[in-house]
Amino acid sequence: MYNIKKAIIPAAGLGTRFLPITKAIPKPMLSVLDKPTIQYITEELTGVGIEEIIIVVSPGSDVIRNHFGKADDLERRLLADGKKELYDIEKETQKFNVKFVVQETANGLAGAILCAEQYVGNEPFALLLGDELLFAEGNEKPCIKRLIEIYQQTGKSVIATMEVFGDDVSKYGNIGIRDEKDGVMTVDRILEKPSINEALSNNAIIGRYVIQSGVMDKLKKLTPRKNELYFTDVLDELAEKGDLLASGFEGKRYDVGDKFGYIKANVEFALRSKEIGEDTKNYIKELSKKL
Ligand code: UTP
Repeated sequence: MYNIKKAIIPAAGLGTRFLPITKAIPKPMLSVLDKPTIQYITEELTGVGIEEIIIVVSPGSDVIRNHFGKADDLERRLLADGKKELYDIEKETQKFNVKFVVQETANGLAGAILCAEQYVGNEPFALLLGDELLFAEGNEKPCIKRLIEIYQQTGKSVIATMEVFGDDVSKYGNIGIRDEKDGVMTVDRILEKPSINEALSNNAIIGRYVIQSGVMDKLKKLTPRKNELYFTDVLDELAEKGDLLASGFEGKRYDVGDKFGYIKANVEFALRSKEIGEDTKNYIKELSKKL
């Protein structure tokens, strides 16, 4: 069986769609309810065999390091005040084995992944984009778990996809499908944000991947287009060789790098909250009467 122990979370983009907040606050620290988005993403990696998480950050992102680091004074204070529940919540942020690397210039997703080479070498890795949240509940299998299982059985790279229609097709990477068995598709081509007419299928690439060993070497050989290194160029190369698989997923995806996606995530997590779920529901009902 193929094994996978490392995960990379690229979170070094400029976050320009969220200016002005992202001028001084890195986008991964924007909170959905009471937790920064980057913590939700690291939590997706619980219980799937990942031993080390490498977060790629932009220069000046100390606040992200601090979030996952020690906070002795705060902990002493919470315990002294008898706030054990809050102490436990704070301690949760320290349970991940996280390493940080800085991407000095935001030169694209492939550039961000390359920054993690010192920790990952040419090993296979899980890749979770820092501005999407994947949420599974009840019997739903978490997206990254599904991808890891497919990789373990095949040794091939796997990307998560979702079905999109109409104009949405042009907002995502798009895949052509060679064949499909038990919900696992073999990808034969990738198109970056195609027009509706060009699209190869209704399957859009989302921000969860498992990447087979040897891909760092391919990334090093990429040539920039428009000053960026495109990860889809490497995926396309894998697809040509029949080494790229794709799968749908159970649960919900939130695009928290987009304002409307971010609001949806906040509303839905608030509705799920034990603390404010009921109040939020009543508030939305009242509000909707006025809309
Ligand atoms: P995006 O290009 O969608 O987002 O990157 P962005 O640059 O952060 O935000 P906008 O578009 O300016 O608002 C997708 C993911 O890849 C990471 C981002 O942090 C995000 O999680 N990324 C992107 C990097 O880590 N480095 C890059 O050079 C580019």
